[in-house]
Amino acid sequence: MYSEKVMEHFSNPQNVGELENPDGVGEVGNPTCGDMMVFHIRVNQDTQVIEDIRYKTFGCGAAIAVSSMVSEMAKGKTVQEALSITNEMVADHLDGLPPQKMHCSNLGADALHAAINNYLSKKNQK
Ligand code: FES
Repeated sequence: MYSEKVMEHFSNPQNVGELENPDGVGEVGNPTCGDMMVFHIRVNQDTQVIEDIRYKTFGCGAAIAVSSMVSEMAKGKTVQEALSITNEMVADHLDGLPPQKMHCSNLGADALHAAINNYLSKKNQK
């Protein structure tokens, strides 16, 4: 029922963990299942490129695969480029998710965007 890509990311998730003094933190929970995801990002202040990204996912297998894919998609992109990553794009990059698991993909891009918005609001306060 899961694509090979999902199984690959689920069995060997990339960029798991947290950053010391991250530039942005985003936390999103899914009220239906209670699962949650926290993203940390490190942003190059000159280029606005996301140089490092880590996350912790407390959730189902699909959510773990989604967070791993999101981290790979966002790393090396500018914050503006990463803001245009959508939940649908993440699911597409995973070669799809079963219909009843599509809601799990929502956590990924939302948590990434929350981390970026956290970074941008801190930057604007400086
Ligand atoms: Fe909760 Fe997948 S069942 S994120």
